[in-house]
Amino acid sequence: MRSREERGVDPAAPAEPVARRAALVVPLPRRRDTVHLAQALAPALAPGDLLVLTGDLGAGKTFFARALLRALGLPTTVAVTSPTFGLVQEYAARLPVVHADLYRLGSPDELRELGLRERRADAVLCVEWGAPYVADLGGDALELAFCLEPGRAVVLRPGGARARGLARAAAGGPDRRAARARGRAC
Ligand SMILES: Nc1ncnc2c1ncn2[C@@H]1O[C@H](COP(=O)(O)OP(=O)(O)OP(=O)(O)O)[C@@H](O)[C@H]1O
Ligand SMILES: [Mg+2]
Repeated sequence: MRSREERGVDPAAPAEPVARRAALVVPLPRRRDTVHLAQALAPALAPGDLLVLTGDLGAGKTFFARALLRALGLPTTVAVTSPTFGLVQEYAARLPVVHADLYRLGSPDELRELGLRERRADAVLCVEWGAPYVADLGGDALELAFCLEPGRAVVLRPGGARARGLARAAAGGPDRRAARARGRAC
């Protein structure tokens, strides 16, 4: 398989153009802050929503996806593991949720074979390493860019009107300290 660089895939590129002032940053110093972020976002979600999780290895994408599924009522008896090898895993939470990890995706053709875009008709899509494929997945994604430096945080970058509402919900939890994401690199 060709490397991501050979394929011209830049995982650090923003998923969609976004007005700078629309991006919000929420600090996540403790695991429980990531759990609170998921709990704030979950009630606002509906089938058709696209969440794209970006950030370095170990930045907290799968941890967030698991917290989101728990916040959507998935019992702890159902394990949520990284779908890196199978690429896609589906869960029957309060809403159907499709959790994908596209790190090892070979090409946009392979993406079409996975049928992810079609799943937006009836499920929430939560896609790790999905930034290069937002257009193929139908756009209007909320990108959640998890950063480790200068401290754990998430930058919320909405790519459309629906995603802007989701960003406000995620940033508006009880003890949130969201701020404009000026100057954040990730
Ligand atoms: N505030 C925090 N939020 C999320 N995870 C945290 C936090 N603090 C520590 N961690 C730990 O960081 C790790 C994040 O790993 P995770 O598998 O979620 O990363 P990832 O971004 O999905 O990586 P990959 O790109 O390899 O899929 C977990 O071990 C988690 O317990
Ligand atoms: Mg992961």
